[in-house]
Amino acid sequence: MSNDPYALATEAATALKSATGVESFDVALVMGSGWVPAADAIGETIAEIPVTDLPGFAPPAVAGHAGRIRAVRTDSGKTALIFLGRTHLYEGRGVDPVVHGVRTAIRAGARTVVLTNAAGGLRPETQEVGEAVLISDHINLTGANPITGATFVDLTDVYTPRLRELVREIEPSMAEGVYVAFRGPTYETPAEVRMCRILGGDMVGMSTALEAVAAREGGADVLGISLVTNPGAGLVGEPLNHEEVLEVGRATAARMGGLLAKVVGKL
Ligand code: 6GU
Repeated sequence: MSNDPYALATEAATALKSATGVESFDVALVMGSGWVPAADAIGETIAEIPVTDLPGFAPPAVAGHAGRIRAVRTDSGKTALIFLGRTHLYEGRGVDPVVHGVRTAIRAGARTVVLTNAAGGLRPETQEVGEAVLISDHINLTGANPITGATFVDLTDVYTPRLRELVREIEPSMAEGVYVAFRGPTYETPAEVRMCRILGGDMVGMSTALEAVAAREGGADVLGISLVTNPGAGLVGEPLNHEEVLEVGRATAARMGGLLAKVVGKL
């Protein structure tokens, strides 16, 4: 196994091809907390393996984060690589395992990366729990970056405008918002939630931003969608718990799966 994270992703892509029998993938989808059941609507499963069968993937650390990779063929004949669960920065293994799936998918051919997550809503005045919001941009407060060295990747359009337009052709009423990424694993304090609102954030979470940057570095287009599972701390009074986050996800999974299937069909 290679020490270099990019070479390791190439090794994982090679292993992925032999494990699934799929030569090249058109699109990769990362299913966040609560999104895993939505994967069933995307297409017919060709193969499914634990991520740990491939080099460079960390075993999952949190309940509800499945850690499997599924190869799918869609009705429209596209091949999709679906990550059922992801590695988070708060697991403490550093940034490379967090973006390894995206890097592997790109080396396995994916030119489009769809990143989903469960997020806290920062705008309860306009957002509803269970609502899906298109990510228009992010604020990376994780303190990490998947790129090291003097590689100055432009992040003007991290979340590809054309892909957001495509989603809105399917769901015209879908809101867009700015995703604020924290390292976690604690949820934000009410003061941090107020800060995020002042900074122009609309959702808050612990994933996606680093993967989006890695995908852009790799030249892929990125679509990000947050499922608002609860309001940020202090906005409505109730304390937050992980079970509630997962439950809201389960309740909306079918609807989100249908949306993702249509999006992949239109790529
Ligand atoms: Cl309120 N914060 C963060 N960081 N992640 C979340 C969340 C809140 N709700 C769901 N995921």
